[in-house]
Amino acid sequence: MPDLRPAGILATGSYTPTRVLTNFDLEKMVDTSDEWIRTRTGIVERRIADEETVTSDLAFLAAEAALADAGMAASDLDAIMVATVTPDMFFPCTASLLQHRLGASVAAFDILVGCTGFVYALAVAREMISSHAYNHILVVGAETLSKITDWEDRSTCVLFGDAAGAAIVGPVPEGRGILGYSLGNDGSNADALKIPAGGSGLPASHETVDQRLHYLAMNGPEVFKFAVRAMIDSSEEAVRKAGVQMTDISLVIPHQANLRIVDAAAKRFHLPSDRFVRNGDRYGNTSAATISSFGAGLSWGSLVLRW
Ligand code: UT7
Repeated sequence: MPDLRPAGILATGSYTPTRVLTNFDLEKMVDTSDEWIRTRTGIVERRIADEETVTSDLAFLAAEAALADAGMAASDLDAIMVATVTPDMFFPCTASLLQHRLGASVAAFDILVGCTGFVYALAVAREMISSHAYNHILVVGAETLSKITDWEDRSTCVLFGDAAGAAIVGPVPEGRGILGYSLGNDGSNADALKIPAGGSGLPASHETVDQRLHYLAMNGPEVFKFAVRAMIDSSEEAVRKAGVQMTDISLVIPHQANLRIVDAAAKRFHLPSDRFVRNGDRYGNTSAATISSFGAGLSWGSLVLRW
């Protein structure tokens, strides 16, 4: 058995739909205001896919961009993972559809861990590469949350956006790549963020449609409390496991669920605020399409990369 080898991100790509939905547009759809949305979440606008665009379309465009960034062809890949809570359909998995579209004859599977899916997928990819099982893995986080959003529910419809991000994970020089990670889940709070119907627990029926149970439902304040704690604890654990100090971190890429959560973490970590990526104002919460640290499960995850 050869020694474990370091693995990291070799290249990235992303794609967002061109259609912009502003807070002012939302004012015309539900009883809300630009002021409420900006002060409570930091979001100003988000991208929304066309009716005919599906998650695998966004995933494909982000994957193509990542392959171009790596100077690689799809035939150079050994596996594909897609993290999503908005698959094109229940099954086959979105990774199968992406695999076919890219023309890569490789292992392909989805990871469904809410907004934390991309971090989970990167951690799995790292282990598959570290163990020499595979050389190059495409990891995609892709969401069309607009398709599972209840556009009559002001407490959720102002929060989400559509996007995809892709990374090629492969071997890297010693001392680089994914140095450590923290993953977790607490199913006791599963009801706080879910799509109530459509699964084996509550199969689709006229009643479930009439009661709007096929849309994302969230207990916002409950998830907020959890998210602040999870983001702080998980990041601190990942930093500890990576064998570095929080003050060594040059850039934090937090999940953009709510910029107030990012502010709380920035305060706790005693890091200058310009070390925190903040783009939620333009994209909203894009779930698994972001680097993330908390989400449905309720789950959490963070990882430390040396680039
Ligand atoms: O990505 C997965 C993880 N998700 C998250 O991390 C989301 C975490 N939660 C949050 O970010 C926040 O809880 C929200 C942004 C969702 C909500 O903010 P909040 O400060 O927790 O507000 P709230 O739910 O406690 O609602 C406060 C008030 C309520 O009115 P009353 O009962 O005080 O009269 C709501 O009905 O704001 C009302 N409200 C709205 N008003 C205008 C709720 N949504 C809206 C809205 N526009 N869109």
